[in-house]
Amino acid sequence: MINPDLPRIDQVKDSFDEILRNGKITNFGKFVRDFEAKTHEYLGVETVSLSSGTVSLIFGLQALGLQPGEKVIIPSFSFVATAQAVLYAGGIPIFAEVEDDLNVSIDDVERLLSEHDDVGAVIAVHMYGLPAKASDLERIVSAASERRNKKISLIFDAAHAFGSAQDGRRVGSFGDMEVFSLSATKVLVAVEGGLVATKHPATANRIRNMRNYGISSNYNAHFSGVNGKMSEFHAIIGLHNIQHIDELLEIRQVKARNFRKIIAENTQFGLIEWPEDTIHTIKDFTVLVPEESDPGYRDRLTRYLGDNGIETRSYFYPPIHEQEYFKTFSTRKLPQTESLSRRVLTLPFYTSITDEQMGYVTEHLCHFERELS
Ligand SMILES: Cc1ncc(COP(=O)(O)O)c(C=O)c1O
Repeated sequence: MINPDLPRIDQVKDSFDEILRNGKITNFGKFVRDFEAKTHEYLGVETVSLSSGTVSLIFGLQALGLQPGEKVIIPSFSFVATAQAVLYAGGIPIFAEVEDDLNVSIDDVERLLSEHDDVGAVIAVHMYGLPAKASDLERIVSAASERRNKKISLIFDAAHAFGSAQDGRRVGSFGDMEVFSLSATKVLVAVEGGLVATKHPATANRIRNMRNYGISSNYNAHFSGVNGKMSEFHAIIGLHNIQHIDELLEIRQVKARNFRKIIAENTQFGLIEWPEDTIHTIKDFTVLVPEESDPGYRDRLTRYLGDNGIETRSYFYPPIHEQEYFKTFSTRKLPQTESLSRRVLTLPFYTSITDEQMGYVTEHLCHFERELS
C-alpha cells in the first residue's frame, strides 16, 4: 500500500555525499534550514521542522499554552496520533462527530464548545487532504473565546494535506497553527518528519526551543523540551520532494478525478464529496461500501480484493472513541462516525498508479458487487 514518491539516487547523491564527507548530518544544518526556507516560501507562514507529525502536534498544543487537564476537541474519525498527542501534551480529548465528507462537524464542535467551559483547544483534521471548513471553525472558536474571555486555540491536523487549498487559500495558514506529517504514506515525504506552520512568530520560536531539549544557546536550557529534531538525511529527501510537490499534486488530482468517475459509472460504492475548486492531496483514496450492506460486507470485500492482489485498508476504523485505550474518554455515542467508519475502504492510490491499475481495481469492485456480495 505504501508507494512513496521518492527521488532517484542520482537526484540526491551529491547532497548525501556532501554530508557524509563533512559529517554535518544533524543539528540544523544547511539542508534542514533550506527545507524550512522552502516550506516557508510555499506556505507563506513561519515553519518549523520536527521529527514527526505526532511530536509536532504535542509541541504545538503546548506552545499554544494548553494547560494540564484542559479539554481538547478532536474528531474521533482520525488516526489515533491526533488523540495520543492531546494526552501527551497534558490535555483530555473530547470526541466530536464528523460530517458526510468525514471532516469534523461544525455543529457538533459548536455544541461541545458551549457544553464544556474548560476547552483549551480544538483540533480539526483535513481528512485525507480534503480541507476542513476552516472559516466556519475560525468563526465559532473565536466566538467561544470571546464568550469565555479566554483564548481557545484552533489547530489543524494537516498530516494529510500538504499542498491542499480551499477557496484560494492554501492549507498552512488556517487557525493558530497547522501541523503536517512528512512520513512515508504522505504526499510530501521526508521518510519521517513533521512540520509546524503558524502565523505567530513567538509560537514558532517556542517550538524551535522545545525541539532542542529546551536549549536556545550555550547548552543552557531556558525552556522545557526534548529531542524533536529533523536530521539532514530526512531534510534532503523532503527538500527534493517539495520542489516537485505541485507537479505531484496535479497528477494526483487528474488521476483521482478519473478514478472517481469510473467508480461512479460502474459501481454503487459511495464517493466522498470533493468540491471542484478545492485542491485535495488524496492522501488516501477512500470509498464507502453501500449503506445498506450487511456488517460482514466490507471484510468479505477486503478478503476478495486481497486474494486478487489488491491491498486495501479501512482508514480509519475503529474510530478513536471505540479504541481500547480511549474508551474511557468517550462520553457519548457518535452515530455518524460509527456508521461511516464501518463503511470506509481505502483503495490503492499513489502518484504513479496507471489507468490499467485503476481499471483493474474497479473491475473487481464491480465483480464483487454483482456476483459475490
Ligand atoms: C491525521 C494524522 N495525524 C497525525 C499523524 C501523525 O504523523 P506522524 O506519523 O508523522 O507522527 C498521522 C499519521 O499518519 C495522521 O494520519
